[in-house]
Amino acid sequence: MEKLPKKLQSKLSERLKDGSMRSLKTSGGLIDFSSNDYLGFSRKKAILDATTAKLKESNLQENGATGSRLLTGNHSLYKQLEDFLAGYHNSESALVFNSGYDANIGFFSSVPQRGDTILYDELVHASIRDGIKMSNAKSYKFKHNNIDDLRVHIERSRNRNDSEIYVVTESVFSMDGNSPDLEALVDFCAKKDCYLIVDEAHATGIYGNGKDLVSQLGLEENVFARIITFGKALGNHGAAVLGSNDLKAYLVNFARSLIYTTALAPHTVASVLSAYRYLESHGKEEGSRLKENIMYFKEQVQLLNMEGRFIESDSAIHCLVLPGNEKVKQVSKYFQTEGFDVKPILSPTVKMGQERLRFCLHSYNTKEEISRVLSITRNLIK
Ligand SMILES: Cc1ncc(COP(=O)(O)O)c(C=O)c1O
Repeated sequence: MEKLPKKLQSKLSERLKDGSMRSLKTSGGLIDFSSNDYLGFSRKKAILDATTAKLKESNLQENGATGSRLLTGNHSLYKQLEDFLAGYHNSESALVFNSGYDANIGFFSSVPQRGDTILYDELVHASIRDGIKMSNAKSYKFKHNNIDDLRVHIERSRNRNDSEIYVVTESVFSMDGNSPDLEALVDFCAKKDCYLIVDEAHATGIYGNGKDLVSQLGLEENVFARIITFGKALGNHGAAVLGSNDLKAYLVNFARSLIYTTALAPHTVASVLSAYRYLESHGKEEGSRLKENIMYFKEQVQLLNMEGRFIESDSAIHCLVLPGNEKVKQVSKYFQTEGFDVKPILSPTVKMGQERLRFCLHSYNTKEEISRVLSITRNLIK
């Protein structure tokens, strides 16, 4: 094999030196405090069986989609799923992308135009940042969940006579687990005449009776677009942009991550539809188990006097900041020896000094597992 160019070798050496080298590992066999499978849907045989039945009933036997959605890949299940999603999430329309990453780069690289401004929360996901980097619009970050700082940026942008202003946030932040005050943000963006986009990846299927946080708050009419994803609580794969019919038509014409890629296989789309059907019939039970576990986790954190160490969160994501890549990796390894999968979040994924342990809670975690993982944590951080 040819050797890596020197510049790349030295970037890898840097990673080794600062303890942030990534590698691919298979996970399994440990008690899950790390996956995004919040409701356990990835393991439901009923969803697998319903998918097989759906494919049979639709007479779709192809293993793959055979092309882009704009060429041969737009099989009949796409329309079923998009019609369903629009109704379920109370949106005029839905457009399915191959992943949340694709949805965000497709949206942000194509919607904001030269002369526009994108204002994004400083903690938004890498897929949003990457989409923004591909855009011709100017972009500025505002302080996390801070409307006062957003106001300052909007005023600057108005003084420059920028055309449209797009404001981007997440309904549940992936690395902190907290949420913005969406009602206040919607109100503020309406007054300032800005377009609000909310990434609902970690809220999809959990809030608003199995819908999303914007739906729970009844704000569907007041946001320009929502990004929902199927790889987390739905236990599946793929994503959709929810918005107006015109926005959908625009994205079909200009979002390159939709146009220039092979579409999802019929099997995947059937599986997403089956996961949503399962959510309709069983989401309430799984959702209440998850809520109970979140409450129990928070109670235990309080009992063990660790409240100040965790980032305030009411979601399924709870993070304990433990500075230093080596330190947080070492603690996570110890969890493995005790049978628990708790992932370390390293810099540069988060800012240096903000490295953390990230506990993801699920409907299927038991109270005993939660108590044990927290008592180990307490001993480790003494
Ligand atoms: C907030 C947020 N948006 C988008 C994505 C990307 O979604 P997907 O995994 O479907 O590509 C993620 C995934 O981690 C995420 O956390």
